[in-house]
Amino acid sequence: MRCGIFTMKPLWDRKGRFEMEKANAAFRKFTYGVYVVGARHADRTNALTCAWVMRVSHRPPLVAVAVGKTRFTHDLIAASGAFSVNVLAEGQVELARHFGLKSGRDGDKFAGIPYREGRTGSPILEGVAAWLDCRLVEGFPAGDHTIFVGEVIDAGIGDRPPLIYDPRDYWG
Ligand SMILES: Cc1cc2nc3c(=O)[nH]c(=O)nc-3n(C[C@H](O)[C@H](O)[C@H](O)COP(=O)(O)O)c2cc1C
Repeated sequence: MRCGIFTMKPLWDRKGRFEMEKANAAFRKFTYGVYVVGARHADRTNALTCAWVMRVSHRPPLVAVAVGKTRFTHDLIAASGAFSVNVLAEGQVELARHFGLKSGRDGDKFAGIPYREGRTGSPILEGVAAWLDCRLVEGFPAGDHTIFVGEVIDAGIGDRPPLIYDPRDYWG
């Protein structure tokens, strides 16, 4: 695969299992926040929990989210050309589990969840530490994920500190 001027080789070649496990062990040392990334298209509003979120530009203000190609939210972001990033607050682990451990393909994840629509129509959750409303500017394929890059067109902050990712909250 070409990536800028570099050609990237996949890690999992014939001897790759060992390398993959080393890489995974290193990745487990990464630190993350916990975000709920949402979108609305036609009559469906959906969101997923994402840890792989980062700011990628000052001017214009850009944020990137890595969303698995099989996720329902992936299709809504691609179709709507917009998404929201909700920065979960301390004490919102249950919300992270709600949006991260089941798919909106199997039911309406927003039933009973308080939210409003941002300027793009994407969902903004109540009580979060902060939120961004974004216009999709690029989508880059990255293995089994797509890196969606959004320009922030609206944002807000709450008064609670952000939730820090702890794998034991989700995977036992
Ligand atoms: C803490 C946590 C972090 C996650 N991070 C990501 C992520 O960065 N990218 C991703 O595609 N899925 C991530 N997931 C998995 C999705 O949230 C999950 O597959 C979700 O059910 C997809 O929902 P959807 O099909 O309704 O879009 C994460 C799940 C949890 C619990």
